[in-house]
Amino acid sequence: MQNILFTGAAGYIGSTTAYYFLKNTNCNIVIIDNLSSGFIENIQFLESTFGDRISFIKIDLSDNVALRELFKNNNFDCVVHFAASLIVPESVVKPLLYYDNNTKNTLALISLCIEYNINKFIFSSTAAVYGEPNEIPVTENAPLLPINPYGSSKMMSEIILRDVSFAYRDFNYVALRYFNVAGALCDNNYKDKKGLGQRSKNATHLIKVACECAAGKRESVSIFGSDYNTKDGSCIRDYVYIDDLALAHLSAYEFLYKHNKSEIFNVGYGKGYSVKEVISAVKEVSNVDFKTIEAPRRDGDPANLISNNAKILSLTSWRPKYNNLKTIINSAYQWELIN
Ligand SMILES: NC(=O)c1ccc[n+]([C@@H]2O[C@H](COP(=O)([O-])OP(=O)(O)OC[C@H]3O[C@@H](n4cnc5c(N)ncnc54)[C@H](O)[C@@H]3O)[C@@H](O)[C@H]2O)c1
Repeated sequence: MQNILFTGAAGYIGSTTAYYFLKNTNCNIVIIDNLSSGFIENIQFLESTFGDRISFIKIDLSDNVALRELFKNNNFDCVVHFAASLIVPESVVKPLLYYDNNTKNTLALISLCIEYNINKFIFSSTAAVYGEPNEIPVTENAPLLPINPYGSSKMMSEIILRDVSFAYRDFNYVALRYFNVAGALCDNNYKDKKGLGQRSKNATHLIKVACECAAGKRESVSIFGSDYNTKDGSCIRDYVYIDDLALAHLSAYEFLYKHNKSEIFNVGYGKGYSVKEVISAVKEVSNVDFKTIEAPRRDGDPANLISNNAKILSLTSWRPKYNNLKTIINSAYQWELIN
């Protein structure tokens, strides 16, 4: 039975990915998280669903002593690393925080993997590593030119992984470059149980914020920039459903065991929607009108980010099942109504 370390899985993507690993394999998972942006409710949901196959330890990744103790006491087969700071505008004003939490702590984690001979690593990377790509949809071979410290901090982690896997031939990783993730676990029973979804203290992600407005939890949603060189002037993003993203990690895990080599994959659907289109779709799905505000551009936001997902489709078993904007929005909205 595999014993897997998940960092940051009290958070949105990590908890849903843990759900699918526990559901679809017979692994055990140890989750570490400092609960800075994660929620104990996500851990409780996993514990109540999967019992003692999951354990949680509150650890900050910067705590080298606790981390070393954890590696000493557990025989991990694989590490899936989600823990990070991830608010782009915040990274612009607090770059040191981002290099510290995202790059330095990832370096410490990889070092322990090498020391304790843990040879499989799955990394949460991001489309932000591309910056403003010249060609859309963007492929994994595009130059990495991040335009904010968040993207740079993740790019540096990718470079560390690349160099370490070159130097230590047994160490293999998959870096998944997520595009915009949204929605709530489709296995949720929205009538009588609080399930996994995009819990967040101060949400900044568009679908989440717009669904909060539709659910009456927030007054308005801002459109940051209406003068981009796009079809309606607002930014365009590729929205991927959380369950499909979680399942991409399982495909990455299979890939590592099957091929014993490292790879980088985009995870998106290859289709873009503008901010204005998303807001209209949320209003349509929820049948609720809410206020929108045309605000200035935010620092660090590229105009257009759409994935080319041919590589993950051709090299892994990943086949997206929920490639539909309204399905994504409906799950996010239903979740918002009961949470
Ligand atoms: N949400 C997206 O659209 C998106 C897009 C691209 C990439 N990503 C990446 O996916 C990963 C997960 O993001 P998410 O949306 O689930 O965010 P999240 O904030 O819900 O989850 C991050 C988790 O990491 C934990 N954490 C942060 N710093 C830590 C530290 N020093 N020690 C221990 N735990 C720590 C937080 O408490 C939280 O539970 C991140 O690496 C992020 O960069 C997310």
